[in-house]
Amino acid sequence: MVKIPVRAERNYQVSIGVEWRSVISDISSRYTQILIIAPQSMKDLLSLDDDRTFFTADGESQKDIAEVVRVWDRLGELSIGRKGAIIAIGGGATTDLGGFVASTWLRGIDWFAIPTTLAGMVDAAIGGKTGINTSAGKNLVGSFYSPQSVDIDLTFLETLSDRDFAAGLAEVVKTGLIADTSILTLIENCNSLKEIRQISSELIAKSVAVKSGVVSSDFREGKVREILNFGHTFGHAVEKMSGYTLRHGEAVSIGTVYALYLSEELGELDPVVTERARGILTKIGLPTHSKEFEWDGLLGLMHGDKKAHSGSLRFIGLAGIEKPIWLESVPEAAARRAYERICR
Ligand SMILES: NC(=O)c1ccc[n+]([C@@H]2O[C@H](COP(=O)([O-])OP(=O)(O)OC[C@H]3O[C@@H](n4cnc5c(N)ncnc54)[C@H](O)[C@@H]3O)[C@@H](O)[C@H]2O)c1
Repeated sequence: MVKIPVRAERNYQVSIGVEWRSVISDISSRYTQILIIAPQSMKDLLSLDDDRTFFTADGESQKDIAEVVRVWDRLGELSIGRKGAIIAIGGGATTDLGGFVASTWLRGIDWFAIPTTLAGMVDAAIGGKTGINTSAGKNLVGSFYSPQSVDIDLTFLETLSDRDFAAGLAEVVKTGLIADTSILTLIENCNSLKEIRQISSELIAKSVAVKSGVVSSDFREGKVREILNFGHTFGHAVEKMSGYTLRHGEAVSIGTVYALYLSEELGELDPVVTERARGILTKIGLPTHSKEFEWDGLLGLMHGDKKAHSGSLRFIGLAGIEKPIWLESVPEAAARRAYERICR
């Protein structure tokens, strides 16, 4: 088992290679009251005790205030007190929801994350960002509220569809681009998604090490942590405009290529890096271009993004691999030119 520490408002560990049922038994022995939150679509797979499990809507639709109210009601019915705890088991949408509910119930109770998707294992469950969406955009309501632990059971990847596995790889590639080129090489050395699956544990350990290191140095996203948003400003806008029919990682893949084009447009990046990244994303089977989304809508959403400052466009770009940069006050004309290349 690999254990990686995270320093945040409390210190905790990410454990890679656990057996999830033992983790639940252990947590249950330490708390008098537990509510497990899991997606309805995993009900058969998990076969959990219905009395203490809240089954959520599937996918992004669970990150909604109506779903939060339903969980609050269930916590009330079960009279979960300050000494109770929540266990969120599922993909990134479920851990985002579970963490958010935990942060708001009785002004904060303990919670535990058991991520079951690759995106959850390498990204969403780590770092204490919890949240839900609003009609104005993604993750606009939320909290910084760390779990007590993140426990990764790699056997969950066996049932994960190729589509969801590939979507999770978008975050792995992002991590490689901003901070660890060895991740990119590992993927480049594989000839198929099947081969990439075989090196999952190595990719997860490397990605978690980067994320926990960045989060530990800047938990509340003063500045350094913003590098993890590489590809996400355009990606979130695309994801919202798709009506969440695109997986988060698919939108991030398009957003990654956009951020690279923008870095080129602003004279910071050698196009060779963009081509390398595009090659990796394409090999994984992720989208890198789309004509589907009109510019005005995307622009409006990007202006409303949490990372925008006083109405000006801001992005994380790259000056090279492992060299993230802050692109401040980006002129709309440059942003538009990068968009036009995404439409090709
Ligand atoms: N908090 C953060 O720092 C952070 C970081 C990255 C992403 N996110 C959020 O994470 C979400 C995306 O996460 P995701 O890609 O895991 O999506 P998801 O949670 O919607 O899960 C995708 C699908 O996989 C299914 N699934 C989950 N585990 C499975 C398994 N083991 N076997 C079979 N099916 C399984 C789910 O039921 C769902 O249908 C987005 O909402 C994104 O905003 C948050």
